[in-house]
Amino acid sequence: MKKAEGYRPISVAEERLDEFFDVVQWAFVGEWLREDRQDYVDALPVERARALEVTDARRGRVSEIAAVHASFGTEMVVPGGRKVPTAGLSWLGVHPAHRRRGLMTRMIHDHFERSLARGEAVSVLYAMEAPIYARFGYGMGSQTVKAEIPRGARMWAVDGADDLTVRLERASFDEHDELVAGLQARLDRPGTVINAVGSGRNARFTDPVGNRRGMEKWRLAIVEDAGDPVAYAFFRRHARSSVGIHDGVCQVREHGSMSPAASQRLWQTLTDFDLVETTMTENLATDDPLLHQLRDPRGVRSKVIDNLWVRLLDVPTALEAREYFHDCDVVVEVADKHVPANAGRWRVRVAGGDAQVSRTDDAPDLSMDIRHLSQCYLGGTSLEALVRAGLVREHTPGQARDLATAMLSPVAPLANWDF
Ligand SMILES: CC(C)(COP(=O)(O)OP(=O)(O)OC[C@H]1O[C@@H](n2cnc3c(N)ncnc32)[C@H](O)[C@@H]1OP(=O)(O)O)[C@@H](O)C(=O)NCCC(=O)NCCS
Repeated sequence: MKKAEGYRPISVAEERLDEFFDVVQWAFVGEWLREDRQDYVDALPVERARALEVTDARRGRVSEIAAVHASFGTEMVVPGGRKVPTAGLSWLGVHPAHRRRGLMTRMIHDHFERSLARGEAVSVLYAMEAPIYARFGYGMGSQTVKAEIPRGARMWAVDGADDLTVRLERASFDEHDELVAGLQARLDRPGTVINAVGSGRNARFTDPVGNRRGMEKWRLAIVEDAGDPVAYAFFRRHARSSVGIHDGVCQVREHGSMSPAASQRLWQTLTDFDLVETTMTENLATDDPLLHQLRDPRGVRSKVIDNLWVRLLDVPTALEAREYFHDCDVVVEVADKHVPANAGRWRVRVAGGDAQVSRTDDAPDLSMDIRHLSQCYLGGTSLEALVRAGLVREHTPGQARDLATAMLSPVAPLANWDF
């Protein structure tokens, strides 16, 4: 039998969600608590849940679900603060008994086709393991700083921070969804994946007991300026002590700030809880205001890792959706074996911040795989750096620098919630 033969793609009906969840638990190595089921249902974009079902007894029990995935329909902020229709791929897992038969590959193709049919020009994801997705044309579109910040870390003072007030509350979808979604929709950092509408919308509020490991329920810090919310963060603490020393931790998840003062007030709060020695976060942009405000940058233990993986599904639509910061006229030759409509030569003409992208037969100035164009899309990686790394070929000297200057974003990209 050929790879991936003996299976068929299906949409997962609500009455089959437990089968879907069973595959997720097998693939992601975990046993969920019965009481957490509703949290997982809430986090899943149910109407976009897909699976591969066995159709041939040589593969397994006929009609059992062997592999699953789902995606959020959303918009993503691109350089210049504009937005592009985007699919957020998630929940992708193959039951260990069906691995390495090409099921992931088949599901990714299913995802690409359906996303394109809905007009989503870009697909993005978080990767459990970084080497998995480059083969499908995903590039590392943004990076994040994983940081451990010591209690009471000193900061350069920012005007107005002391005048802001802070509310600390237990996070609740009913009470806080509008506030959080409203603030998040105002963020203009490229890579911001706007929280979805429809099912899966309350993913950021879900809080399975089985994932807490001694931590509190998720809480919200809300910074206000005369009663108007100007920053928010999801956080939870864990009190620990040994030999009479309290070394509790505070974990910060999604956060966003509308101004430098709001950011400072937020992080002063998050890094100064009694009985907590260390505040940890996994989603700081590489140029987050906090990193510039800290007086002792070496006092923060940090590591830079991949954040969002980005895949252009419709090259001209995606490229025309963002803003550029330098005029240029460059012919780019793209290789794309998974979405052949992207392959070939594209003339990218940028004037006054906008690009026009059209097919051409002219000789290419640059040649690259779709994953390298995707990697540079949010403006966090320079195309010239990829030429220097031997990954992009430059045929016309100077054109990589021209397009790199046009595409680089003045602020580093980051997705601030993990979907
Ligand atoms: C990762 C996973 C989805 C792969 O599924 P699969 O059906 O076995 O993948 P495929 O058979 O389609 O493999 C396609 C290619 O990817 C490669 N690949 C698969 N898993 C990989 C991994 N973890 N790291 C690197 N490469 C991987 C395969 O070797 C294969 O390469 P080839 O075409 O050169 O032979 C599956 O093993 C799984 O569910 N793992 C646990 C959950 C997980 O990590 N999910 C991803 C969440 S982001």
